[in-house]
Amino acid sequence: MLICLIVGARPNFMKIAPIDREFARRGIETVLVHTGQHYDENMSDIFFQDLNMKAPDVHLNVGSGTHASQTATIMIEFEKVCKQNNFSMVVVVGDVNSTIACTLVAKKLGIPVTHVEAGLRSFDREMPEEINRILTDSVSDLLLTPSIDGDENLRNEGVSEERIKFVGNIMIDSLYDALERVNQTDMNVANKLGINKYAVITLHRPSNVDHPSQLDRLIEELVKVSRKIPIIFPMHPRTRNNFTKFDKLTSFLDNDRIHVIEPLGYLEFVSLIGGSNLVITDSGGLQEETTSLGIPCLTLRENTERPITISEGTNQLITNLDMLQEAVDNSLGQNSVREGKKPQFWDGKTAIRIVDAITNHLER
Ligand code: UD1
Repeated sequence: MLICLIVGARPNFMKIAPIDREFARRGIETVLVHTGQHYDENMSDIFFQDLNMKAPDVHLNVGSGTHASQTATIMIEFEKVCKQNNFSMVVVVGDVNSTIACTLVAKKLGIPVTHVEAGLRSFDREMPEEINRILTDSVSDLLLTPSIDGDENLRNEGVSEERIKFVGNIMIDSLYDALERVNQTDMNVANKLGINKYAVITLHRPSNVDHPSQLDRLIEELVKVSRKIPIIFPMHPRTRNNFTKFDKLTSFLDNDRIHVIEPLGYLEFVSLIGGSNLVITDSGGLQEETTSLGIPCLTLRENTERPITISEGTNQLITNLDMLQEAVDNSLGQNSVREGKKPQFWDGKTAIRIVDAITNHLER
């Protein structure tokens, strides 16, 4: 049995790390392929150390580009890797361009594909990730879902029952593992900044940061938030590029309650959010991590593919920036603590269920 595991962008690393460890524990050989969609030290390399991951066996070095050129380059390079190996299964995670690119290549070569984090839907086809999710799920052999709503979405699309398996949320395996380790280390970014009560901001979606007028509105609201609570903003390269391009960075930084820092490694980031009072984000994974940690999360998007973080967790959608200040006040207020419950199978044991599902599938 030879399993190919795909990583490409930052949110992939914490999903693949526990799966690879579980395969290794069972003595099953894996080939770890890094597409190179993300390539900066702090968007990629640091995660391999922080997650105790083996170095990639193959690096495709594709880098940034338009969606078409990035996806196409990954396909061309990954096809060569598939032809040189005899993979029993290709495992892809999430919804990034690397996910769909490698799925298409494997399926057309007749290699079975497992999609981990299958079934999530924002029902917003303007998001590139939604296109990636729908297409990846439509051709993958084994669809492993993080929450029961994923099963429902797949059934509604006519997917047959034997392709769907509810395994739980793999990110939580890495989160639990990191929480044990951050407690033993002195990596508290907030301490270093001399702050103990703070909100964490992460924003990188095109809908929030790619248009100057939208960015202006966002900055106006974030400045108001900073008057209520200091903010720490590890800034994604795409966001920093746009702040710089639209000449907004200098004025934004001229505020001693706004701390813009470089993107953090995994352990430092887990430590930062673990100690925060509030998270404001447009990330997918952070909606789940805050639900797991019981920290209020305000998601600046019109929709979410992770509705269970709202129905069962601590997440709230801010579909219009006019809603933000009231939501911040409520989140920081005396009676604000909304008891989130942990969704089923967000228990740190998802990698075991994933590897069981894959080995069962291959033995059948
Ligand atoms: C990608 C994913 C998104 C995920 C996000 C997490 C897709 C379609 N999008 O978006 O779902 O939430 O990763 O970060 O796959 N850049 C660097 N260094 C890097 C990587 C990117 O400077 O290591 C800059 C480049 O200017 C690049 C831009 O960021 O053009 C955007 O990167 P890209 O990988 O295209 O998309 P993300 O916005 O990161």
